[in-house]
This record gives sequence, structure tokens and C-alpha cells, in this order.
Amino acid sequence: MKTILTGIRANSVLTLGNYLGALLPMVRLANKYSKTGEYQINIFAPDLHSIISEVDGDLQENILRTVKYYLAAGLEINDNVHIYRQSRVSAHSELCWILNCVATMGETARMTQYKEKSEGRESCNVAIFDYPILMAADILLYSASYVPIGEDQFQHIELTRNLATRFNNRFKEVFVVPVKTSEQVKFMGTDEGIRIRDLLNPEKKMSKSTKAENSKIMLDDAPERAAKKIMSATTDSLGKVKFDMWAQPGISNLLQIEALTTGVPLAEVTAAWAGETRYGELKKQVASSVADMLRDFQTRLAEVSDAQVYELLEVGEKYANEIANAKLLEVQKAVGLR
Ligand code: TYM
Repeated sequence: MKTILTGIRANSVLTLGNYLGALLPMVRLANKYSKTGEYQINIFAPDLHSIISEVDGDLQENILRTVKYYLAAGLEINDNVHIYRQSRVSAHSELCWILNCVATMGETARMTQYKEKSEGRESCNVAIFDYPILMAADILLYSASYVPIGEDQFQHIELTRNLATRFNNRFKEVFVVPVKTSEQVKFMGTDEGIRIRDLLNPEKKMSKSTKAENSKIMLDDAPERAAKKIMSATTDSLGKVKFDMWAQPGISNLLQIEALTTGVPLAEVTAAWAGETRYGELKKQVASSVADMLRDFQTRLAEVSDAQVYELLEVGEKYANEIANAKLLEVQKAVGLR
């Protein structure tokens, strides 16, 4: 059986970027493949990754809410869908250490996320540097071939592939190498990775850490408020709707959001709006789609109970420990620790 695996840090309420870039694609893939009998679906809360940076409020509550997000987004549960917390499976930390012995300082220092997070700081914690190695352990322990994530994380998949290949060559063929990011996007059903842009500054990705409230839509925003944020999004002065992320990032972002929130393929949305000169019309449409989506999502979220989540975690963590410990033992034997 092949494995599809992903995780989202639970440091705060998530953004529309997390939702459209990672959560929703995972839910769509899970619902499509979990019933075929050929795929295992692993969704986990990377809580060890969470404590690397500041957590907004209580971590336990954030984890609970993030798991609920998947259910509210329509994740269908069956025997092939597993949900667990990273810190409840100690093999993640143990494999991270072993992979640290295979990874080089150079390749880890090249990671954009590390460079961005450490730049200009007098000091930063070691975990910011080690972040992608733990991520590689998260993936390799479960032999995951597919890892649905946003475009900002692609570098980490390539690093994971390099580490797995190096380990297999140096010791023994124990790891399944995840597929290339170009294949990942095909599997996700998109032509390229998804990067939802900052509404005010569309050259940048939408991020929870950006201060300006109107630059991002949070999943707990009132639908009317979210609609207003779309209406005030930065566009351009070219006066013609076209999908072109380089020349018209603001407009392209709106088209992308429209496609993902409605489930209509981007090519169709783009064709329907091609040549439109009134940006206000496009904004009104996107604002209404986002508001509708949030309204539905928030209603469903309120219906998911804590008990439901804890039950899923209990079953999921039993499964995860079995798979991860078996893989860890193979690795320990390969390097001579057992
Ligand atoms: P995190 O929490 O930083 O991001 C969660 C997911 O959201 C995606 N994302 C976006 N996608 C599109 N547009 C945006 N503006 C946007 N902002 C965020 C990210 O690409 C990511 O998929 N390192 C992972 C967590 C993790 C993980 C793993 C994922 C830890 N171990 C193993 C997969 C497999 C992360 O960045 O989370």
C-alpha cells in the first residue's frame, strides 16, 4: 500500500493559505484514495515543530482545533485514515537524530525557510536549523510516497529525497524515497505548487505571522470581514484580467482563490474571466465565494466534538507507533545500533 502523509503546525488559527494550499488538497486526496484499498492516509500534528517558535495561546487547544479543521473540511474517516500527534510517537525524534548524522550543514543551511527565519537575528534556536531533518523523519518513518504541501515546503521534500537516497546507498535500502515535487503536484491535480499570496502585498505568500490584518484571511474571520478583505486586495493598473503570477500577482491570486474555494479548475475560472476590465466585478465574485466557503466551514467546525478528536487520536497513535517503531528498528539495524 502507498502512503499519503501530511502535517500542519498548530501554532495558531490557520490562514486561508494553509487551508487552500495544504488542508483542502489533502482532504480531497484522502477522500479520493482512502477507499481504494491501495493507500494509507496519515495526517499528523507536528507538535515538536510547533514548539520551535511561539505558540499563540494553548498548544493542546490549537492541536485539537487543527484536527477539527480536517473534519470540518470534509475528511471522511475510515480504516485507512490515521490521525496522530508527532510527539506521541517517539520514533520521530529518534530517527531525526540518526538522519542528523547523514545530513550535511551545507544542505540544511541552504533551506529558504531557515535563511528567512534566521536572517537579521542575533541568535536563533538550533531547531530552526534542524526543522527539515525532523520533517524528513516524519515522512520516511511511514514510507510516504506523496506529501501534499504548499509550494513553500517543496525544498524540504527534495531534501528528504536526498537524505533517503544517501542513507539507502550508504547503509541499506530501508527508505521509500518520496516522489519528486513535480510528480507531487501532478498527484495533487494541479500544474504547479499552490502559493496563496498576501492580499496587500501579493509578491509574498499569505502568512499568519504578517502583522497587517487585511493582508491575510484567518479561518475564524467572520465571512463578511473576509469578504471586505478581498474587496481591499491589491491589484494592478493593467486593467485586464489575466492569470500571470509575475506581471499580475494580485489578480492571479484572486483567480487562484476563486478556483480553489469553488472547486472549479483554474483553467476554467481563468477562461471565464479572461479580458474582463472591471476588477471590482472579479473581487465581488471572489469575496462572495470566500464568504460562502467560510460560512459552511465554520458551521461544520462547530459541530465537531472534542471527544470525536480524542477517539481518532487514540486509534491513530496506536497505529502510528506500530509502523514507526518497525521502521526505526530497521534503521537502527542498518546503522549498527541493534
Ligand atoms: P506549516 O504549518 O508551516 O504549513 C502548513 C501547510 O500550509 C502550507 N501553506 C501555504 N500554502 C499555500 N499558500 C500559502 N500562503 C501557505 N502558507 C502555508 C504549507 O506549505 C504547509 O503545507 N513543515 C510543515 C509541517 C510539517 C510537515 C511534515 C508537512 C512537519 N513535518 C511532514 C508534511 C510532512 C509546515 O510548513 O507546516
